[in-house]
Amino acid sequence: MEKATAEPAAGFCPRCLGDLEPAGEACPGCGLAYVRRGGVVDTIGPRERERRAADVEAFYTANPFPGYAPGDDGPGLIDRSRRAPFLVALDRAVPPDGTLVDVGCGTGQLAAFLALAGPRRRVLGVDGCAESLACADGFRARARIGNLQLVRGDLFDLPLEEDRFDVVISRGVVHHTPDPDGAIDQVARRVAPGGVLVLGFYETWGRFLHASRRALGRATGRWIRALDPVLRRRDLSEDKKRIWIADQYEHPLEHILPLPRVVAHLEARGFRWVRSIPPAASGASLFEGAPKPSPAAMTAMRAGWLARGLGDPDAGLVVVVMRRGPARAST
Ligand SMILES: C[S@@+](CC[C@H](N)C(=O)[O-])C[C@H]1O[C@@H](n2cnc3c(N)ncnc32)[C@H](O)[C@@H]1O
Repeated sequence: MEKATAEPAAGFCPRCLGDLEPAGEACPGCGLAYVRRGGVVDTIGPRERERRAADVEAFYTANPFPGYAPGDDGPGLIDRSRRAPFLVALDRAVPPDGTLVDVGCGTGQLAAFLALAGPRRRVLGVDGCAESLACADGFRARARIGNLQLVRGDLFDLPLEEDRFDVVISRGVVHHTPDPDGAIDQVARRVAPGGVLVLGFYETWGRFLHASRRALGRATGRWIRALDPVLRRRDLSEDKKRIWIADQYEHPLEHILPLPRVVAHLEARGFRWVRSIPPAASGASLFEGAPKPSPAAMTAMRAGWLARGLGDPDAGLVVVVMRRGPARAST
């Protein structure tokens, strides 16, 4: 696996966003203590982690997600990302000089894309897995991305200021923690007043048929490639498919969350509905939504996700975009 080879830039502090020193062990501005690993600021260090967090880290150490293609470079990542409608819409919506964090950034592809596409943005990618971050750092150094700071930190002990970020993204993460509601609270607390939360999670109805497909695979002792649109793709390498199988079929910790409950949870914390994806944000900005769907319309939308079923390339991953009001409700 490729690691950072270029001399890492000193980078910036995840907590106060001030400049760090190249050989420092604490931020000169706010005192945050860290261990430097290449360009990664590690705020967990050698500390023993809670058992389930350690299991999840061990899983991603063996299967850093998402995988990079051999020889991936900056233009290649931009090109690939610009073929994904959600990423195009996200890039258009994030302010060109905004401050954003991707919590659970994995190998950092989304964070790297948003940093490359917006050189005036300040982008943080935080993850608990040292190996995934080492992949991210290798890419960051190769693509010479100066406005992306990679941070090893635990979602339940984030080294990030509250009420600070214009945009907080956390996609495919909270459902892999022991306490998804608590995890949602943690990411929501980092959003600045008026800022936006982009939260991706396995939705109960959207994930239903995948769960059946996985149960069938377990019962028969083999994953049924013909039933999975990702495994059927001819343009994907076997290595990417191996990582997909691990992530989708062999993960040690996974929850599914009903959309209405997630939305109600965030509304109680001062957020308001902007949109969900799917459906794709056609035309309008990703952060400019329509009115919140009525309960009946939400049920119809979820029924649509259920109907996508085995053809869904995201296997029931749904994204909600919610905007924080001027002041957060106390919780
Ligand atoms: C499925 S990957 C998603 C990666 C990326 N967000 C994406 O959309 O491709 C889940 C990531 O969440 C991270 N993660 C899970 N639990 C975490 C925790 N408690 N603290 C920090 N990161 C965590 C894992 O290390 C992993 O990289």
